[in-house]
Amino acid sequence: MSTNMKNMEKGVIFMRRAEMFKVGLLTVLLSGLLALVPIGYAFAAVSGTCVSCHTMHNSQNGTTVTIGTGTGGNSILTTTCAGCHAQGTANHVVTMGTSKVPQVYHTSATDLAGGNFGYINYLGSSKGTGASAAKGHNVNATLSALGTDGSLTAPPGDEFTTGITNANFTCGGTYGCHGNRATENELSSIKGSHHGSDASIDGSTVPKSYRFLLGVKGVENNDATNGWQNLSAAVTNKYKGASAPDTASLTSPGTNGTMSGLCAECHGKFHGSGADGHGVSGAWIRHPTDILLPTTAPYSSYDPTLTYDATVPVAYTDPSLPTRATAVVMCLSCHGVHGTNYADILRWDYSGMVAGTTGAAAGTGCFKCHSDKDGL
Ligand code: HEC
Ligand code: HEC
Ligand code: HEC
Ligand code: HEC
Ligand code: HEC
Repeated sequence: MSTNMKNMEKGVIFMRRAEMFKVGLLTVLLSGLLALVPIGYAFAAVSGTCVSCHTMHNSQNGTTVTIGTGTGGNSILTTTCAGCHAQGTANHVVTMGTSKVPQVYHTSATDLAGGNFGYINYLGSSKGTGASAAKGHNVNATLSALGTDGSLTAPPGDEFTTGITNANFTCGGTYGCHGNRATENELSSIKGSHHGSDASIDGSTVPKSYRFLLGVKGVENNDATNGWQNLSAAVTNKYKGASAPDTASLTSPGTNGTMSGLCAECHGKFHGSGADGHGVSGAWIRHPTDILLPTTAPYSSYDPTLTYDATVPVAYTDPSLPTRATAVVMCLSCHGVHGTNYADILRWDYSGMVAGTTGAAAGTGCFKCHSDKDGL
């Protein structure tokens, strides 16, 4: 028997013994083990007692489990994606057992990088300045509180016929963004990710993809205190971009694995070169994405590696080695994704982008890159 196998067997024996202890002791043991692993690893996979998230028979003390939406989902969980990630509390990160659960629907002033669905329905009459379906992706099939988008009944620019409507739109699976979009059920589409290691984000599997978005590459912000946020040049997610767009499909962002390629799975006509995309250099027919941000004027005045602005993030051809020369314009340079306080899920108020202004909007938004178009 190899040493490795012996060690594995010891691990099994340890687990069997541990089962005999009270759950509380197991928690102590597990958190003790957790303290031994390097900082950052805690984000790579869920941790803690099984019972904090799973229900073996969808029953506890004789009653049906009613956490979240109240029905045991796939993977015999106590709740759905929304039940864990959209709890609607005042916290942008909630603790379940020993796991930190990133929140996408909450009233905290701090939003995580993807934004906050709470802007859509003016959550708690405090998130943003008022309800509007245009402020986010209405994933109402998972989070019914959002309601349907009354004016957009399908993704604008839907090149690959997604079949997504304003009624069936979900977080994951065929009708959503996360997980394998070839699998319809959203929990099945993401199966194996929460316990999987994401030590290398190469896009090859769902757990090894940026934020469980199959095929997308990038560097995740796993900071121990400010994880999942875009905060500063040092504490931020780093997005994958490319110097020229490639071809996305219904279920793949394309071989470059860029963030803009993901958007193209549903909004394909807004991405890619040629007549069906944003055109070609010098003759843009839609705003370009997955092109290098020129280092010449007027674009030279914005160096996100030095003066980082979380409201105008860029991607990099190699996100593990961000340089000014390899900065890339992407969909998320202008848009949020879950929700923002502005129409068209923009990161700023488009009506404030007035050519020639020296007002408060000067130097922000469009002007960050087109620095010669304001009045400064
Ligand atoms: C913090 C929440 C959490 C805890 C704690 C947790 N799980 Fe899970 N588990 C999940 C979620 C969410 C899924 C479904 C999504 C997925 O597979 O990514 C899942 C899926 C699974 C799956 C099916 C997919 C796979 O990875 O094999 C198994 C088996 C599983 N859990 C076993 C366990 C066991 C055993 C424990 C306790 C030792 C445990 N889980 C603790 C959240 C948790
Ligand atoms: C039982 C609670 C639970 C459920 C249900 C659950 N998650 Fe999670 N999720 C977690 C926890 C805890 C984490 C943080 C640990 C981690 O990063 O894996 C997490 C992390 C994530 C992340 C960030 C991964 C990363 O790279 O940091 C995404 C994206 C995500 N979940 C999506 C989903 C989707 C989509 C569903 C439904 C299909 C879902 N989750 C269901 C508990 C849950
Ligand atoms: C799984 C399909 C899907 C993907 C992937 C996707 N979207 Fe969408 N998007 C939709 C649908 C459906 C709508 C219309 C319904 C809605 O707005 O709720 C929409 C609407 C929008 C809108 C208009 C919002 C409004 O209500 O006016 C913007 C902006 C947008 N998407 C940007 C993006 C960006 C940026 C990405 C990539 C980060 C992206 N989308 C990825 C499906 C998708
Ligand atoms: C330079 C900033 C910028 C970039 C980059 C950008 N958008 Fe937009 N997008 C806007 C603005 C501004 C609007 C709203 C007004 C308009 O359409 O001119 C908009 C509107 C939209 C809409 C709503 C369209 C409708 O018919 O209501 C969708 C969907 C969208 N964008 C998706 C994308 C996707 C996908 C990408 C990347 C391939 C992308 N955007 C890149 C600025 C941008
Ligand atoms: C992240 C940087 C960035 C942001 C933010 C940005 N742009 Fe651009 N934009 C570019 C780049 C780069 C080009 C391509 C320039 C070229 O081809 O020389 C471009 C091209 C354009 C063009 C076509 C001009 C041409 O040279 O063909 C227009 C119009 C435009 N942008 C308007 C806007 C507006 C309006 C906004 C705000 C909603 C905006 N841009 C935000 C980087 C940006």
